[in-house]
Formats: sequence, C-alpha cells, structure tokens
Amino acid sequence: MSLQFSVSSSAADRVKAALLVVPVLDGPELDSSAEAVDAALDGELSRFMTEAGFTGAEGTTLALPTSGRLGADAAVLVGVGKADELTLGKLRRGGATAARQARKATTVATTLVELADRAGLDRLDAAQAVAEGFELGSYEFLKYKRESKPTKLRRVIVVGAGGGARVKAALERGSAIADAVSWARDMVNEPAGAKSPDAFARATQRFLRGTGVTVQVLSGAQLKQRRLGGIVGVGQGSEQPPRLVKLTYNPAGRARGTLALVGKGVIFDSGGLSIKTAGGMETMKTDMGGGAAVIAAMSVLRDLDVKARVIGFVPMVENMPSGKAIRPGDVLEIRNRKTVEVLNTDAEGRLILADGLSLAAEAKPDAIIDVATLTGACVVALGEKIAGLMGNDNAWVDQVRAAADRAGEPVWPLPLPREYRKLLDSEVADLRNISTGGGYGGALTAGLFLQEFVDERAWAHLDIAGPARAAGDDGELVKGGTGFGVRTLVELATRFTKPTD
Ligand code: BES
Ligand code: MN
Ligand code: ZN
Repeated sequence: MSLQFSVSSSAADRVKAALLVVPVLDGPELDSSAEAVDAALDGELSRFMTEAGFTGAEGTTLALPTSGRLGADAAVLVGVGKADELTLGKLRRGGATAARQARKATTVATTLVELADRAGLDRLDAAQAVAEGFELGSYEFLKYKRESKPTKLRRVIVVGAGGGARVKAALERGSAIADAVSWARDMVNEPAGAKSPDAFARATQRFLRGTGVTVQVLSGAQLKQRRLGGIVGVGQGSEQPPRLVKLTYNPAGRARGTLALVGKGVIFDSGGLSIKTAGGMETMKTDMGGGAAVIAAMSVLRDLDVKARVIGFVPMVENMPSGKAIRPGDVLEIRNRKTVEVLNTDAEGRLILADGLSLAAEAKPDAIIDVATLTGACVVALGEKIAGLMGNDNAWVDQVRAAADRAGEPVWPLPLPREYRKLLDSEVADLRNISTGGGYGGALTAGLFLQEFVDERAWAHLDIAGPARAAGDDGELVKGGTGFGVRTLVELATRFTKPTD
C-alpha cells in the first residue's frame, strides 16, 4: 500500500509521531539531530548505546525508552554504518529497516534524509531513496492470508529537511516508483493459476489506465497474422492462449529519442515437454518478472516527466506440456523470418523474446533493452542477488549499468563472445535454441541467441533469473517477488540519451 510522505521543520525531539526513527552513524560522534534527541533524553541515548554495545553498524536497531520526554511516543535507533561510507543504497535500506520497526505505528517520523548532507549526498536523491526504502520495506502480499497482522504504517514525516517543497516532491517520486515496484511484486507473487496470459494482459490494461500509456493486446489469429511464431509456438501447449502486449508512451513536446523495452512474460514455466523437476517448478510463477518490470516502469513515465518516447513489448505465454505442445526437434519461424530448431522446450523465454525483440527492432528505436528471468546459468554465475548484463553496444551497456547503480539494483557485465555463436548452429534451421557442447556458459549463449533478433541496433539484455525473487527479507527486498528491474528501467528512461558508439 502506498504511504503518505510529508516534511516537517520541527526539531527531531519535538516532532509528533507514534515512533521516531533516529539514524545513527557508526563513529565517535553523534550527528546533530541524534544529539538533540540525546539531550532531550538526558543523555540516555548515548548511555543506552554504550550499554547495549550499539555502534551504529549498518542494519542494527535499538529501541529507546522515552517516557514522555520526546514529541514522539517512542523512539528507535537504526544503524547506517560509517559516515564516509554512506550511500543512497544504505539510506534506502535504512528506510526499509525503519519501516520494519514501525509495523505497529501509524505515523513515523525520521531524520534519515538529514544524514545526506553529512555524507555529501544530494538531499533530493536521498529523500527519494528513503521514500523507496520505507515503502518497499513495508511491502506485504496478504491477498491469500486469512490470518495476518498487516503493517499499520501509513504516514512518514521527514524531519528537518530544508527545501521542503523540493524534498516533498522527491519523496513523492520515490513513492511513485515504489508503487510501481509493488505492482510488479504483486504480479510475481500472484499464483500462476490466477494469472493466465489473458488475466495478466487485462491487469496491465487496468493498471495503466490514466497513466498516459496506451496498451494494445494481440491474441489468437492476430498473433499468427503477424507471424509471431515464437509466441504462438511456446503458447500452443497450454489451455491458456498467449498474448502480446504493446505499450506506448509519448512525451509532451519533442521526444529525446526512442527507447524500446522488452520483458519476458512466461506466467508459468513447467519446461514444456522438456519438463522441469518438481523442485525446479516451485518458483516458476516468477517467470513473468521481466514483463511485469517493463509494464510497471512504464506506469510512472508521465509522472516523472520522462522526455524520451518509450515503447514496450511483453509477450505473455504459459509453457506447458500437452498433446498440442511443441516437441524437441520442431522448427519455429520467428517474426524476423529467422528459423529456430527447438531442441529443448524449456529454453522458451528466448523464443518469445525473439518475437518481442524483432517487433522492437522494427520500430527503429535508438536503443533496446530486454529484461528476463532467462537462465539458471546466470544464477550459477552471479548468485541470487545480481543480474547479468550483456549487450552489443558498449556505450548503451554502460548507460544501463550506470542507471542500475543509481537505482540500487546490482548488475554485473557478462560477455557475448563471438566464438560461441557457432554453438547455436542448427542442422536444419538458422539457429538451435540451446547450445551444443554441454551447456556451459548458458547465460552467454542465451544472450547470443537474443542478439540474432535485434537487427544490429543498440541492445542490452538483463538476465534477472536470480534477483527476480528474494529468498528472505533483505533491506528494501521482501521475501518473494522483488520487482527487480523496475527502478533501473525508470532511471534509464529518465536520463535516456541516444547511445553513439
Ligand atoms: N525460466 C527459466 C530460467 C530460470 C531458472 C529462472 C531458474 C529462474 C530460476 C528458463 O526458461 C529456463 O528454463 N532456462 C533453462 C535453459 C536451458 C534449457 C538451456 C535453464 O536455465 O535451465
Ligand atoms: Mn524454461
Ligand atoms: Zn522460463
């Protein structure tokens, strides 16, 4: 649920709230607002810190007795680490930690944004990060819980932030982005049985109503007429027919170039006839996380006054085994007329993305990025928290990496070695959908496969197979769907410049 943010010029010790969250830097001195609270509590803040061995180490918390000496009813300290190591990411995590401490408080006040000055961080960037942290850290998916105690947190007061109106606007940017991320998380957390491609496409139309983004949904004969052989092929094994969702955002005034987003929307990946193990299927409702990220990111473009034209393509399918399913050895013709021999029906993401990327390239954008839970191999390479970043244009890949860094989503570059391209040569078609020779380097060969469909335009690929889900609560992440990619795509669109390599 969206939180309400406001700015107060009250002193930290006087502000009225159910809970005051005081960030503490790991170091010899308290900063000025922690000092003011310490004074109002007759030195008990410092005494408690010493007694509890609380140093301000990142992620640690300590509740303080207040007995009516503060404007707030209760107070808690949140460690944010050393001053010279403070980053926007740590402020975002600090906000999330604070939100977890504030589950029983309707209104929380905090001086977190004030710390930005101490660390030489931009105050508006800090406000946005803190708002994102609060809202994402209090995210819950309770739709199917009949016994639960939802968080009571509704309002966040940012204390002592000079430049009130601009800080408030930055808090609202953070909140809008967090709303978008939360929608993506909701879609990922939704069981696959309740999100057929049709239901996912309809949910997209509902979500984007009034956002200035136009939504076009293709189904049935339209998919065949447009020769979307990858989408039709992967979709044919399921009782739930596929969809292709096309999104368009046109900025007011002259567009600063066109950016195309493509997201993998496999609502459930059983593997098809090349069926997965029971364990391998457990989390496969997550396989539309890239598509959800694209849709969610587009929802805030007008609010954030994005100057680029942005188009989005999300192929939506269910990958199932059945009497109608594609078989290993079948050949599909993709939109750009390249043919693919499907030797493993579990390598389905690249087949539907091939159509999505072909459509994107046909629109002649200045740059393309796709986001996909594409390979287990990428999780082997980079673990569960880091996305793999590949591409065919260094300037564009650098732009994506910089956007991800600012957004606080960990990504790491992987190569697309030309000499591995021959591993995708097929006996009967232009390409095979899995590499020959053991399947080593599977994230790279998947990337090389996608590259065949971008018509040599500037293109980047984010493999989010790991970070699309979180195994447990961690900073702004909550166990389950993470909405990974939304913040990077929003940042990328906001600062988009045509790559010239
Ligand atoms: N959706 C999976 C990738 C995946 C695996 C995402 C684990 C998240 C966690 C994808 O469709 C897939 O099945 N990929 C295969 C490719 C292989 C058959 C070449 C894989 O990674 O095993
Ligand atoms: Mn698969
Ligand atoms: Zn998949």
